[in-house]
Amino acid sequence: FNVPAPANEPVYSYAPGTKERELLQDAVAEARSVEIDIPMYIGSEEVRTDNKGKLTPPHDHQHVLGYYHKGDKSHVKAAIDAALAAKADWEALAWEQRAGIFLKAAELISTKYRYKLNAATMLGQSKNPYQAEIDSACEIVDFLRFNVAYMTEIYSQQPPANSKGVWNRVEQRPLEGFVFALTPFNFTAIAGNLPTCVAMMGNVVVWKPSNTQIYSANVLMQIFKEAGLPDGVINLIYVSGPDAGDVIFKHPDFAGIHFTGSTGVFQDIWKTIGENIHTYKTYPRIVGETGGKDFILAHPSADLNVLNTALVRGAFEFQGQKCSAASRAYIPQSLWGELKVMMEKDIKSFKIGGTEDFSNFINAVIDEKAFDKITSYIDRAKQSADAEVVIGGEYDNSKGYFIHPTVILAKTPDYETLSEELFGPVLTIYVYEDAKWNETLELVDKTSIYALTGSIISQDRYAIAQATHALRNAAGNFYINDKCTGAVVGQQPFGGARGSGTNDKAGSMINLLRWVSPRTIKETF
Ligand code: ALA
Repeated sequence: FNVPAPANEPVYSYAPGTKERELLQDAVAEARSVEIDIPMYIGSEEVRTDNKGKLTPPHDHQHVLGYYHKGDKSHVKAAIDAALAAKADWEALAWEQRAGIFLKAAELISTKYRYKLNAATMLGQSKNPYQAEIDSACEIVDFLRFNVAYMTEIYSQQPPANSKGVWNRVEQRPLEGFVFALTPFNFTAIAGNLPTCVAMMGNVVVWKPSNTQIYSANVLMQIFKEAGLPDGVINLIYVSGPDAGDVIFKHPDFAGIHFTGSTGVFQDIWKTIGENIHTYKTYPRIVGETGGKDFILAHPSADLNVLNTALVRGAFEFQGQKCSAASRAYIPQSLWGELKVMMEKDIKSFKIGGTEDFSNFINAVIDEKAFDKITSYIDRAKQSADAEVVIGGEYDNSKGYFIHPTVILAKTPDYETLSEELFGPVLTIYVYEDAKWNETLELVDKTSIYALTGSIISQDRYAIAQATHALRNAAGNFYINDKCTGAVVGQQPFGGARGSGTNDKAGSMINLLRWVSPRTIKETF
């Protein structure tokens, strides 16, 4: 690497008594005390409309954080025009100049805006301070710094051979057109990474965040601008899915989509792109990370403490709303009795409430729609003969969308919550007979319709080797004796195949390569 060597951003603990805790508390109080007005950013304009959306904390839905200005199809068209207008100058800029902008953005987040961005993530998306820190301070900074390093590698790679009198070279061109970044609520870092890693490679972007992440998206956009991102390179708009789709997927200059969200939406987008394929100048890049039904598989030799920690942290941190969250577990009969007691003790010790009180471990789920979906599964489990709610099961949406960490015991391996994605604090456990280890390996693979993350917990090296091989297609990120969440940029490139996406590993050279279209040049002397 010939850019500053990337290293993972240190994680602040926000432990009681620390200066950092005080500064973050101040930033949260400050964010609660003002009513923010969030424009769209199209070219050099901050665009405001008469159609405003309300932003409220999921854990306190009567409190108004502010308003954002909603757009329509005309704003989608304007964003594309602004992107295309910025394209020539942006792609002509030397890559080192582009890199400098994103390294500066990382520095601004790490130093000047850390507390502000964390407060936005805590209030807008209901993450506790530690969960906000690993996301909107560390992961986004890591994405920016490591991607710049990967970018350097990409631009320096050249064909290894030249015959006599010949010079072969490869030019990494940006894509011909604009790229659409459609981003999720659950990680501010992913929302920031999707448009920036595309832009870094010389592309121009239309960015549509989730309606439930607009608060922190706005802070990110202001940081990118302060870092020197030219007008029009990334255009941030708040429009409905159909309005965005109708304009973007019918546009001849549509060159690609960088997506994180649900499997259903991604599949619909893929179909729409297929239907419009004759419209485009070039085959669009389709890169997406979609659903997950991530597993933890315990072997009878598992260390119970390791297993318990993997389960309670993997399933319930950030209310189970990580794409990587453990939402099903396969536990041998011999361990279940003792494990259940341990899990119950830990789960009952979790404090539940708003993010303003830093001692709360569990906060609210993102919105009413999520609350209704997750609780309907819990209600059905309470009534089903094939399942039993063994821990938790309570919920209350009077102040915020709170759901207690819930463990469902499934009595059949095809019970609905063992295969359907709930995206909430619900873990389903299937207890298998110890003697049926081999059959259980097959069962886990067969039921992995999604294949994002998974863990094997075992002290038996043979069983670890067996599971690593048997489940090689069941998870794009596989963990041995750890929870299945918490991939760190630069250490564990992240993404899965099957129903979980195109597996173009976020935070890797593989991903950045999707945003260039190489030209090979042969010169003869
Ligand atoms: N980095 C996040 C995780 O692995 C997505 O949980």
